[in-house]
Amino acid sequence: MLDLWDLLLYPSCMERERTDFLVIGSGVAGLRAAIELAPYGSVLVVTKDVPTESSTEYAQGGIAVAISDEDEVGIHLEDTLKAGDGLCKEEAVRVLVEEGPARIAELISWGAEFDKEGTKLSFTKEAAHSKKRILHAHGDSTGKELERVLLSKVRTLNSVRKYPFAFTIDLIVHEGRCLGAHMLREGRVVNLFAHATVLATGGAGQLFERTTNPAVATGDGMAIAFRAGAVLEDMEFIQFHPTSLFVPGAPNFLLSEAMRGEGAVLRNINGELFMKNYHPATELAPRDIVSRAIISEMVRTKSTHVYLDLTHLDKELIKKRFPRIGQTCRIYGIDITEDRIPVSPAAHYIMGGVSTDLNGATSLKGLYAAGEVACTGVHGANRLASNSLLEGLVFGARAGGAAASAGMAAQDEAGGSYEPEILYRSSDAGHEETDIRAIRRTLQRLMWERVGIIRCVESLSIAKERLLEWSPLVEGGSSSRDEQELKNMLTVAGLITEAAIERKGSVGAHFRSDYPAKDPGWQTHRTLKRDRESIIKSSL
Ligand code: SIN
Repeated sequence: MLDLWDLLLYPSCMERERTDFLVIGSGVAGLRAAIELAPYGSVLVVTKDVPTESSTEYAQGGIAVAISDEDEVGIHLEDTLKAGDGLCKEEAVRVLVEEGPARIAELISWGAEFDKEGTKLSFTKEAAHSKKRILHAHGDSTGKELERVLLSKVRTLNSVRKYPFAFTIDLIVHEGRCLGAHMLREGRVVNLFAHATVLATGGAGQLFERTTNPAVATGDGMAIAFRAGAVLEDMEFIQFHPTSLFVPGAPNFLLSEAMRGEGAVLRNINGELFMKNYHPATELAPRDIVSRAIISEMVRTKSTHVYLDLTHLDKELIKKRFPRIGQTCRIYGIDITEDRIPVSPAAHYIMGGVSTDLNGATSLKGLYAAGEVACTGVHGANRLASNSLLEGLVFGARAGGAAASAGMAAQDEAGGSYEPEILYRSSDAGHEETDIRAIRRTLQRLMWERVGIIRCVESLSIAKERLLEWSPLVEGGSSSRDEQELKNMLTVAGLITEAAIERKGSVGAHFRSDYPAKDPGWQTHRTLKRDRESIIKSSL
């Protein structure tokens, strides 16, 4: 039987398929892009797992949008810029906050049910928001509701097909243009040709030992875009969520910031409130500050966790607002209305990614990106809580619209019948499953310990050296999804580490203990691009 190595060497063994538009990923950004593309031709939405398995499905807190009576888009803009610590691209944030209300109205017209108080939408608050502006659904299942509505909308569109369990190995690139992707499906390689491709593969939280992200968040989109020669930007900016469940044997389940928005407090293991010692906004200080405060308390008290405490709050309100969290904690013997919840920070969101313009266009013709995989500049060095679902809707729609126009033009240019040469890369034979799992775990620990919440040149250099030892795996090929994911994780880990070494100063979520102040050139965005065998680094 042929393995992937053989198939890559013998292109005639590969299957070919065509679609007008290819969307890789089925979270909020991918689905919203597919909806926008639907009137213009056939759309294929490919996912490496089932379509619902994405970070969107697990998003709890909500979606930020300035539509309450007390709010204004200008205030949402200001809060976002402030959270981004001077590195947001203002024009991108303006697009987000100005187009957000229309995207939400559209979603409601498609059947989204957000929680209400009486007949009015109910808004909550999270860290660094100066107004209550977070919409939520079924208490703490906002992402699940968005996924439900977008998937049901997609089902009504005859031109959109879904293609589950198809792993994107690499993009097909010819003369600097993306022409689709090589997919691994049911043990076979399929070459999927498209006039335009939208990457919406989500984030890379799985690179870290502790993460709130689902198992699918392995940085695939960033890795394949990098291998294809696209520019990546601001990869050092990783947001760590302060509160994920800390129970041995339990997943690092997210305990939404909305809990602190409703009045939950943090206590160290001695039961002492400590946030007042770190920031005037106490529990609602920016996430990076809360995460570092928790780590300091853990070190000071020689403990593995702190506590999130809701026991002083109205029990009925807590049950109604956080049913999913309550249910999950109960599995581990914790009643969130009666018990303090053991928590510790975890990797949550990557602000950097594939560099795009305001329409999701990447540096590679024919390739668009939206959602967490992309770096639109909306989040700067630190994302304002609950802005990411909104970003997925707004920029997913924009990327879909731009891909539709570009795809139509490409079809005209090629007379609809291009037959491009495919650039194949060599690959190695497969590795044992147990090796892959062991390396994945070692990598996650390395990234958590050396490239995590607090970094310094020593820790980053150790990570870099260790990553170099694994470089044969990065450059080689793969014969399974697990192996390909590991290769992608190693690629993205290398990029994050490189970017973190280069930024000799602290800004937003990037904290260097050896350079706690901002470096003189801190307001620059840093880009990384592959050029044959080396990486080109530059500042914007
Ligand atoms: C949360 O519910 O705390 C997560 C919201 C977000 O990260 O935007």
